[in-house]
Amino acid sequence: MASISSVRGFKDILPGETPRWHHVEERARKVFSSFGVNEIRIPILEKTELFKRGIGEATDIVEKEMYTFLDRGGEYLTLRPEATASVIRAYLEHHLYAEEPLSKLYTIGPMFRRERPQKGRFRQFHQINVEFLGQDDPRIDSELIFMLIHLLHTVGLTDLSLEINSLGCPECRPAFRKVLTSFLEDKANTLCEDCRRRLSANPLRIFDCKQKGCQEAITEAPCILDHICDECGRHFKEVQKNLNLLNTSFTINRKMVRGLDYYTRTAFEVTTNALGAQNAVTGGGRYDGLTKLLGGPDIPGIGFAIGVERLISLIPEEEAATLHPDVFLAALGSEARDFCYRLSNTLRLAGLKTEMDFSDKSLKSQMKRAHKLGCRFTLIIGEKEMKEKKAQLRNMEGGEQREISLASFSDLAACFKRLIQSPS
Ligand code: HAM
Repeated sequence: MASISSVRGFKDILPGETPRWHHVEERARKVFSSFGVNEIRIPILEKTELFKRGIGEATDIVEKEMYTFLDRGGEYLTLRPEATASVIRAYLEHHLYAEEPLSKLYTIGPMFRRERPQKGRFRQFHQINVEFLGQDDPRIDSELIFMLIHLLHTVGLTDLSLEINSLGCPECRPAFRKVLTSFLEDKANTLCEDCRRRLSANPLRIFDCKQKGCQEAITEAPCILDHICDECGRHFKEVQKNLNLLNTSFTINRKMVRGLDYYTRTAFEVTTNALGAQNAVTGGGRYDGLTKLLGGPDIPGIGFAIGVERLISLIPEEEAATLHPDVFLAALGSEARDFCYRLSNTLRLAGLKTEMDFSDKSLKSQMKRAHKLGCRFTLIIGEKEMKEKKAQLRNMEGGEQREISLASFSDLAACFKRLIQSPS
């Protein structure tokens, strides 16, 4: 019978890779705790309507990338393509706005988009997602961005570039759309089929098209930053001032638009040359009208999402924690094996990563296994050691040996702990 493989664009994360995931998630949780950001856990499945309304009908995500199906109950459901709409849904449904003037929420988990799989782009991928809801003070924008950059540095990323832009608001954007549409209408014949359609539905999206004709068409196109209203202009200036106060360097990218329709005012992306074409490791922005659009009171918000797969591909090897065991127990003979079986599980209860081999293998092959696993120490126990209640502990890095007593499990655990904590 033919074997069954995973679905295209859906990736297994293998045991060799999970330490890097733990590294990122642990650091993220620590940073969030110092900035007062609390975790919210939301379902992977939502009503399709949530994303249609939240992300926008004329976006690529809603038009062609969602995993949507008709449930047996006759309702259309969708595997979430992003977390913001779901977080807002939960925030409104549970009236979290009534509890705090500013809710700072994070969630970590898989998202689903039926995009063309390629390097750094998957159909199931993971995001670390943060939303600050309740205030539109520009200091909030800068603080969120400052935290994001700090987090990226904390996990070991260097060579980052932060780009910001303002996308205006419902007051000033409609007028800009008209200016942009009339500029691009003259160039309609150089636009790709998708962008010709976008011209009336969502002309700002044309800035993001990678087709050569469309890129050329927008080179000279008007930019929204020159068309935002005074209020948006003041807000954007303040965001920049506060980023400077926090020593966070940035560049203004006047051509940056975002792939989701809910954004207003501040938009940002962090890129790195190391990622090539798929170079945004994170993106986000303000979305002041979204709570109202989703049927709640009018509450401002801003957030970002980091693509975890992309982030992990950038982390230097030495930054990631490893799975290497602390101790390998090499047992020779059945009495020693029973002893080591009990000892290994006692050491594990004391928090020591301990391994042994259950089969009757030679010392040489057990030592080979200890090497392969990358154990720091090996304790060799045979008949003689059982009788004398002492054994040789070998440091696998330097090769030096020392005698230790086998008389008490708790003394052994304490001794191992001291050795493991000391630098090798
Ligand atoms: P986004 O720009 O669509 O924003 O996605 C954020 C990040 O998710 C991207 O920068 C990228 O690293 C990663 N990403 C997106 N699609 C894929 C994919 N197919 N494969 C691998 N990684 C991917 C959002 O999702 C917004 N919800 C962010 C946000 C939160 N805005 C406000 N709050």
